[in-house]
Amino acid sequence: MTENEKQLHDQAYQAVVQKGAKVQADPYRQTYHLMPPVGLLNDPNGWVQWKGTYHMFFQWNPFSPDHTHKFWGHYTSEDLVSWNEEKIALAPSEWYEKNGCYSGSAIEKDGELALLYTGNVKDENDERESYQCLAVSSDGISFEKKGPVVDSLPEGYTAHFRDPKVWKENGVYYFVIGAQTEELKGQVLLYKSADFKQWKYAGPFAGSGLNGLGDFGYMWECPDLFSLNGRDILVVSPQGLETKGHDFENVYQSGYFLGEADLEAGSFSHGDFQELDQGFEFYAPQTTVDDTGRRILVGWMGVPDSDEEFQPTVQNEWVHCLTIPRMLEVKNNKVYQQPVPELKKLRGDEPLQMKVNTAFGAEVALTPASEIEIDCEEAEELKLSIREEISLYYDPEKKLLQLSRPRFRDGATETRSCSVAQLSRLHIYLDHSSIEVFINDGESVMSARFFPDPEIPTVQISGGEGRITWSSWELS
Ligand code: FRU
Repeated sequence: MTENEKQLHDQAYQAVVQKGAKVQADPYRQTYHLMPPVGLLNDPNGWVQWKGTYHMFFQWNPFSPDHTHKFWGHYTSEDLVSWNEEKIALAPSEWYEKNGCYSGSAIEKDGELALLYTGNVKDENDERESYQCLAVSSDGISFEKKGPVVDSLPEGYTAHFRDPKVWKENGVYYFVIGAQTEELKGQVLLYKSADFKQWKYAGPFAGSGLNGLGDFGYMWECPDLFSLNGRDILVVSPQGLETKGHDFENVYQSGYFLGEADLEAGSFSHGDFQELDQGFEFYAPQTTVDDTGRRILVGWMGVPDSDEEFQPTVQNEWVHCLTIPRMLEVKNNKVYQQPVPELKKLRGDEPLQMKVNTAFGAEVALTPASEIEIDCEEAEELKLSIREEISLYYDPEKKLLQLSRPRFRDGATETRSCSVAQLSRLHIYLDHSSIEVFINDGESVMSARFFPDPEIPTVQISGGEGRITWSSWELS
């Protein structure tokens, strides 16, 4: 470890010690979601199961709940339920990453765990530079930096060039990376390597102006390309899309294209962009395949440039968390997402089970960390008012599921909507300051942070004629 690296690690641990008590006392700390120990968390990084252990790295500013510094924090798990906090994986100590160890991915290479990430640099004139860097580890805990493996920009692109997602296929290494053309169009580029050392630019792969897609944003971040159920899927977080009806209602989006990729030709024919989450907070997801062959996605429950300074946890020196892990499957030309079944281990013994006549309504008191399953086959209009702070409303006329909450900035009500032709099932994960709603067995998902009065535990159920079957569990 270099002197500078050691110093940064020490400073970060000091921040954890100094601010830890205040952070831990915050009533909005979550029970089963990954959060920063102190400071700010954003993208999930390096998501992988390696030698049996799940590794989740994350963009981390240990010093303050803002984006001024970027380290890689690190959690590990054997079962996707209990997580251990590991020591810092990467600190921005070297010239090629001095303004941040930005997002990237992990892969097993020659028995080692390799991280490929973006070194973000701002020069004296505040001009950005971007280096794609390698770090390796033989134990999965201590990483040795190898420096840049790609140190130049492809011609015609700006320095908004970041977030390599690496994989190996037929003996060849590939990565896709987020990019911006000099005409300010968001794209994803493809790179190849036979030995992981010499990387060759293989051309633009997808994006604004490519594969029949028109203008589609000025920057694409955090790409992820994989095959699932016989289809190829490009997950990406584009910036600069206009709101269209109930689509693209957040500042930036995260979603996917389904299609056929040809890595030899470097081309990708695909359908329309579909959002992965219709709620308020979801961005920069990353996937991996685990040892059981499942494709598992985790996202950041936040969106850049979205008033995070108004989230109340900022006062207590931390902000943001990750989503629960979601298992992916392609059905009906859509990516379905379901919570991993391991999360059932969080359940307390006895569920609360009841039938509710929705026209009469009911009130339930829940612990802040709870799971709810609702069978709505026999209901029409349905409303859940959760902890008097956030509501979920199904409008059978408009065929819309709507999530509403007070806006962080000024308390005005804001709503996100999701088209649901017929509501048959809701699967809801509640934690102290978040909700994740899985609709009709994962056909759509809505995620949000919310900050209810910690003293109010109730959920009110109401609606039109009809009835629901309710099951809920305390989670711990
Ligand atoms: C996405 C992102 C990435 C970048 C990282 C920096 O949220 O902007 O493009 O690598 O965050 O923290």
